[in-house]
Amino acid sequence: MRFENKVVMVTGGAAGIGRVTAENFAKEGARIAICDINPEAGETAAKALGPEASFEKVDVADSTGVSSWVEGVFEKYGQIDVLVNNAGITRDSLIMRMKEADWDAVIGVNLKSAFNCIKAVSKIMVKQRSGRIINLASVVGVMGNPGQANYVASKAGMIGLTKTVAKELGARGITVNAVAPGFIETDMTEVLSDKVREAMLSMIPLQRAGTPQDVADTITFLASDSAAYITGQVIHVTGGMYM
Ligand code: NAI
Repeated sequence: MRFENKVVMVTGGAAGIGRVTAENFAKEGARIAICDINPEAGETAAKALGPEASFEKVDVADSTGVSSWVEGVFEKYGQIDVLVNNAGITRDSLIMRMKEADWDAVIGVNLKSAFNCIKAVSKIMVKQRSGRIINLASVVGVMGNPGQANYVASKAGMIGLTKTVAKELGARGITVNAVAPGFIETDMTEVLSDKVREAMLSMIPLQRAGTPQDVADTITFLASDSAAYITGQVIHVTGGMYM
């Protein structure tokens, strides 16, 4: 029970990697606060996380909504130990055809969200003189990927944000790391064509897509006492897709 009595916040916790991550922490004793844009799936996910879990409908791109979520969580539980910035979307197209609205939406949900959440939570963690922040980046944020300029820019931004905040908050006992998944089976990748899936699989030495559990286990490790001396790092969970 590595997270007994700890309070863990997960954005986009209603589905995919966020949901399995929240379950991982709950199994090890944590009290979980999830938010999501999807209220039905969010309520259902929270119910499965135990009596002390909570859900709030929040658009993570909206700083006012995020601030009131964080304030509410702190009021309810009295502490915040872990923040997982997981919510993310794709709006893929080649740069010449990419709509400004799709650029703005992806940067808002994938990157500004982390600024919103970290800003609100860090004030509390600094006073506690402890905390763990884990940001979901992506392997493509390091490699680049045609058709995903908005998504790749948001994930590369997440890596720069992680390193900078790690430097700013290290002296206060707070670690900040990024996890960069490769090709993981979730709703986000379900929409990919067989051709794209085959192309991705051919790049993976372990010859399989990853599972949300593969990523969640890395996130819980980074939040655990075993990772106390790791900060500002990008941990790739890709089956070797990128080395
Ligand atoms: P998913 O699409 O299965 O789940 C994302 C969750 O975020 C959903 O519950 C969705 O409702 C929620 N969400 C979307 N917009 C939101 C908003 N504005 N405010 C609050 N919640 C919102 O996605 P998946 O695959 O679980 O991805 C999780 C994270 O991992 C994302 O940041 C994604 O970019 C990243 N990632 C995923 C990879 C994959 O292969 N699935 C690969 C690399 C990174």
